[in-house]
Amino acid sequence: MSASPLAVLVSGSGSNLQAMLDAAQTKGLRTTPRVVVSNRPGVKALERAEAAGVEALVIDHTRYPSREAFDRALDEALRARGVEWVVLAGFMRLLSAWFVGQWRGRLVNIHPSLLPAFPGAHAIRDALAARATETGVSVHFVDEGTDTGPLIAQAPVAISPNDTEESLAPRIHAVEHELYPRVVDALVRGTISLEGRNVRGAPIAL
Ligand code: GRF
Repeated sequence: MSASPLAVLVSGSGSNLQAMLDAAQTKGLRTTPRVVVSNRPGVKALERAEAAGVEALVIDHTRYPSREAFDRALDEALRARGVEWVVLAGFMRLLSAWFVGQWRGRLVNIHPSLLPAFPGAHAIRDALAARATETGVSVHFVDEGTDTGPLIAQAPVAISPNDTEESLAPRIHAVEHELYPRVVDALVRGTISLEGRNVRGAPIAL
């Protein structure tokens, strides 16, 4: 399967990246990225990209004097490769308003909760702490806020009373790995767009 004009941005394990690479092979989805970019060297996601024959690029944020300088280097690298879609998959850096403006409607993220519930870096822990009976997964366009952009798709995951982070996280990740490749494929095919659904709160059913 040839690569799509996608960049997947990662900072760590890259299991969602792996799900995209696998779905391209097993389901014929258009989810093979042209490039995988990590802001941290040496992470597992880079190994996964290399193993799949995808360019694995490190843009180490510690080498840039400011967030804006890092984002400009990232933007330049993406444009140089003809990227049209930017897919955040465990990318643990806030992107500047400038970058979001450059890529609005072509920049998506996956988050382990049913947004707008439990935004931020500890969504699974926060859902457990709140004694929620249900959480889930959200895919959304990125805007200037933290996990606030227009929703594209959501899927629920039930929480049982004796769940811990260790028991709940794998069930959430399994749903992520099913949902994200389908959404990314739909974006590449043009069946989902920001223009097509710019009202918050009514996620598109895939
Ligand atoms: C996922 O849980 C995703 O929802 C969140 O970061 C995690 C990334 O995991 N944004 P991985 O690197 O894809 O394994």
